[in-house]
Amino acid sequence: MTADPRLRAARAADLPALLALEARFPGDRLSARQFRHHLANPRARLRVAVGEGGLLGYHLLLLRRGSAWARLYSIAVDPAARGRGLGRRLLADAEARARAAGCTGLRLEVRQDNAAAVALYEASGYHREATLPVYYEDGAPGWRYARSLGSGMTKGLRRLNAGAC
Ligand SMILES: CC(C)(COP(=O)(O)OP(=O)(O)OC[C@H]1O[C@@H](n2cnc3c(N)ncnc32)[C@H](O)[C@@H]1OP(=O)(O)O)[C@@H](O)C(=O)NCCC(=O)NCCS
Repeated sequence: MTADPRLRAARAADLPALLALEARFPGDRLSARQFRHHLANPRARLRVAVGEGGLLGYHLLLLRRGSAWARLYSIAVDPAARGRGLGRRLLADAEARARAAGCTGLRLEVRQDNAAAVALYEASGYHREATLPVYYEDGAPGWRYARSLGSGMTKGLRRLNAGAC
């Protein structure tokens, strides 16, 4: 039996595998420069899923100064590792990171024709918040989805965390 992939913070040494994963998707890919920037960005959470076959997926979460809403900037699973719950685990991990930073909600954008991702978000409690015409590089429309994370934090704690999120 193979062990479940492990989720951990990305490091510089993951860059080649992250780029190789991005190269498998058409359009709107993250570049080496963007990954390097986010690796060094204290307001970004770049997390990878690593299994026996190496890097199998990642997510990139951005925390915004003065906003209690975090943004899921990207999430991807290697085509060979899909359909086994890893996308769901990565999404839950992004939500946990957002909560840990004091955020009370998560937003994301998705192509309208990305049936797998739309199904993942809708199954995970996200609601459609806005239509985004001509949103992607190729002119394709998107949707913005959002989910309240219900922080369970007291007002005082939230104030203490206000700088983080
Ligand atoms: C979207 C993506 C991350 C899902 O990863 P995954 O590991 O295959 O997803 P999971 O196995 O955790 O599936 C979780 C749920 O998502 C939905 N889902 C996933 N793949 C699906 C598919 N091909 N068709 C329909 N629903 C799908 C289902 O609701 C599924 O729950 P279920 O298995 O109980 O039915 C993956 O398809 C991917 O990397 N796509 C390319 C990158 C991308 O589009 N990222 C999103 C950009 S917004």
